[in-house]
Amino acid sequence: MRTQKTQEKAGFGSKIGFILAAAGSAVGLGNIWRFPYLAAKYGGGIFLLVYLILAVTFGFALMLTEITIGRRTGKSVMGAYTAMDKRFRPLGWLAGAIPVIIMPYYCVIGGWVLKYLVVFLTGSGKAAADNSSFFSNFIGHSWSPLLFFAIFLLITGSVVMLGVQKGVEKVSKILMPLLLVLIVGIAIYTMTLPGAIQGLEYYIKPDLSAFSIKTVVAAMGQLFYSMSLAMGIMITYGSYMRKEDHIENSVRQIEVFDTVVAFLAGMIIVPAVFVFSGGDSSALNAGPSLMFITLPNVFSDMLGGQIVGTVFFLLVSLAALTSSISLMETVVSMLEERFHLKRIPACCTATGCAFLIGLLSVFGYSIWSDFTIFGKQMLDFFDFVSNNLMMPIVALMTCILVGYVVKTTYIESEIEKNERFRSKGLYRIMIRYVCPACMLIIFFSSLFMSF
Ligand code: PHE
Repeated sequence: MRTQKTQEKAGFGSKIGFILAAAGSAVGLGNIWRFPYLAAKYGGGIFLLVYLILAVTFGFALMLTEITIGRRTGKSVMGAYTAMDKRFRPLGWLAGAIPVIIMPYYCVIGGWVLKYLVVFLTGSGKAAADNSSFFSNFIGHSWSPLLFFAIFLLITGSVVMLGVQKGVEKVSKILMPLLLVLIVGIAIYTMTLPGAIQGLEYYIKPDLSAFSIKTVVAAMGQLFYSMSLAMGIMITYGSYMRKEDHIENSVRQIEVFDTVVAFLAGMIIVPAVFVFSGGDSSALNAGPSLMFITLPNVFSDMLGGQIVGTVFFLLVSLAALTSSISLMETVVSMLEERFHLKRIPACCTATGCAFLIGLLSVFGYSIWSDFTIFGKQMLDFFDFVSNNLMMPIVALMTCILVGYVVKTTYIESEIEKNERFRSKGLYRIMIRYVCPACMLIIFFSSLFMSF
């Protein structure tokens, strides 16, 4: 009985399992449809450099904090904040609400990706690309996006249902290396296209004239989203981490994985779009239109585009799937802890609720398209509230809690149980001064840009 209990608490069975699962969460749509665009827009190499510096300072400190909170308290995101300080219970609720809001619409987009995978797989990629309204027709259709959303959600739910070790960990251990192979493969192929080298140059050559404070703010916002911070995910995964594993170097490895994938995605997308548009950099856009309109066009013009398109959408599906798994696991861990549900009922509840909430986003493009909030479609509204409002507040409050209430020793002592905390000095400065300032900047700049 006792061993069973310890095993249950241990969660992940290995350090590499933990790292790949966390990297699986971090590597997602943001790496593929946002990073390359931002890098190209904000000065190429100079953006990459700023991003890297922020990753090893600001991103490092926040991710380390969340993972350590999880491991020290051993609780879900709701319980963790209360365990640290009772007065911070509302913060647990706020943080816990974020994955509940994001998961449904993330799976809706996951469904779109799946649809494109099927389109390319069945050889209709070219036809889809030639029809300029293919994408809007698809999302405006009443049942087809619903079907793909449901399939994506069910796959996510089934993995999480299998448990932390047999589901999340095992799947991450298979999918993440596969993802890396696929992305390296397409990157190499793209580099062989005529004209690709100029595209690559455009991507990595520092353009100082494009550098401004906006470069820093854009890099900061991207980093924050890309590392899956302030969504309760890293706290949850931290709570499953083995006590004997080293936190500091795990965080470094997760960051390296995430950044390498983002960089490689840029190596594919920037030159490919560059070649396709005959060197016109303004053809590069971000978000759904890049993924579902521009890129299919690029692929359909490429030699072997059907195969490249299939591999690409497979890769994106895997990236999105491991991220949605992390969202669902975060929700399930709350249901298990707070409402004492067993895993299977917890998964069914999470899947069922996500399905119902997701309907708002799915139908927001078809039968309910007249219904908008602040002029935003439902999916955009959920995205805005969670990313631009709730997440910066949660991260800011976490910095205050750790930096000034329980003090950084709360984190340091957990890390120093079995390793030397090499970046302790840097960490203290980051959490107490730099990270809160960055969070305020992200919060106000995104408010400012949206209104
Ligand atoms: N880190 C993910 C990305 O870069 C974002 C994400 C992860 C969003 C998990 C939601 C849930 O795309």
